[in-house]
Amino acid sequence: MAQLLENPLRVGLQQERTPEPLILVIFGASGDLTARKLVPAIYHLKQERRLPPELTIVGVARRPWSHDYFRAQMREGMEQYADGIGAEALWEDFASGLFYCACDIDDPTGYQHLNELLSQLDRERGTRGNRVFYLAVAPKFFPEAIAQLGQAGMIADPTKTRLVIEKPFGRDLSSAKELNRVVQQHCSEAQVYRIDHYLGKETVQNLLVLRFANAIFEPLWNRQFVDHVQITVAETVGVEDRAGYYETSGALRDMVQNHLMQLFCLTAMEPPNAMDADALRNEKVKVIQATRLADSKDLLRSSIRAQYGNGWMKGQPVPGYREEPNVHPESIVPTYVAMKFLVDNWRWQGVPFYLRTGKRMPKKVSEIAIQFRSVPYLLFQSAAQQANPNILTMRLQPNEGIALRFEVKMPGIELRSRTVEMDFGYGKAFGVGGSDAYDRLLLDCMLGDATLFTRGDEVEAAWKVVTPALTAWEQPASPLVVPQYEAGSWAPSQPKNC
Ligand code: BG6
Repeated sequence: MAQLLENPLRVGLQQERTPEPLILVIFGASGDLTARKLVPAIYHLKQERRLPPELTIVGVARRPWSHDYFRAQMREGMEQYADGIGAEALWEDFASGLFYCACDIDDPTGYQHLNELLSQLDRERGTRGNRVFYLAVAPKFFPEAIAQLGQAGMIADPTKTRLVIEKPFGRDLSSAKELNRVVQQHCSEAQVYRIDHYLGKETVQNLLVLRFANAIFEPLWNRQFVDHVQITVAETVGVEDRAGYYETSGALRDMVQNHLMQLFCLTAMEPPNAMDADALRNEKVKVIQATRLADSKDLLRSSIRAQYGNGWMKGQPVPGYREEPNVHPESIVPTYVAMKFLVDNWRWQGVPFYLRTGKRMPKKVSEIAIQFRSVPYLLFQSAAQQANPNILTMRLQPNEGIALRFEVKMPGIELRSRTVEMDFGYGKAFGVGGSDAYDRLLLDCMLGDATLFTRGDEVEAAWKVVTPALTAWEQPASPLVVPQYEAGSWAPSQPKNC
């Protein structure tokens, strides 16, 4: 036994666990997410031999599709959004495990039919009653779907059934609480996997390794050495064909309360005692509970929102948000949000965290920049006539990596300093990109590992931080205007009202 454990190859292989046979039931199977992300991720896991042969997928949606039509749609999605199907025989094998069930989200008869199909598939494919229900439907349907599944007794067994809920989880604090109440009424917290795909990103997880597997950063990671932190997720895409959802959501609900908040948590939390679901999530909750919007007396100043107008992207004219298909011509939904957080604890007291995200920005950039305090007094002449502070930047996408900016002496007789950057690139160092976020998260869920999923109390704590801004923006007395920025520009920090 000792010999076996000493063999690193064997240890590695032992860690690659395969999920139990199960049926993945996807609600919203005719939607974008299923064809674009979920099915390609599962297929990729199959290509990597990470799935049991019995794995079965049942797509559920309103449209009256047949099993074969669903298979054809998913195949088309693989060609359109992923790298294609690769070996035909592998796809044939995968497609033989794809099924479809038409069901209205609020129709109990539909759930009965679904239940019958699942039992039949258990018998035919050996899936042993294990199920993962994935709610890839519009957020307004979450409560109904959960209640129907609960009433049909389909999520009653916590040892055999799990429920994956997409974001956004609620629209504000009170609706998130209400949704948690519905969840708790029908299943236990251990069954629930609230998904945020940012937590599945390789470089987001690397944040944990960078912080907690290196001795040099942690001693500097506090108010004594850090001046401020900037968390940026800029996108070049506009609303695309998602206006139906985005009009009810906007940048704060779509990106800040979940994705940016997760980046914030992993940057600001204390070291967890272990890398397991409870320990990690306890630390995240603790740091969010200590967080508040700066300037709570004037929220309209400390949280900025704006909306893209028309402009230019890559030399092409693009429409403004209000001219996009299915967007209300007077919509005040923000496509850009910037907020300042303060954390009331010993580590971060007085250190501002700036979070910002926007669509139709000039570049796609997601990064976390830790700006350290300047030296107290500069002995040398600097090219910039002042010492630039050190900045540690974690680039999440594109060109994933880590960069450290610091001062060096310029060559020559004079003692002058200049800023340079030391850069680590994932692609260059490892020659391969990381795995897709959905691959990782779907596999974790099938294995029953909730470490990278959001807990109920965490989601509520996150809403508590940002809901005051929403309330200020959406109260009836708020002016019905939203500042505009030109598509293809960086939104100004103090945009003009239009
Ligand atoms: C989604 C949002 O959750 O994340 C989208 O709904 C956004 O609006 C997307 O474009 C960004 O994800 P990524 O992985 O491209 O940064």
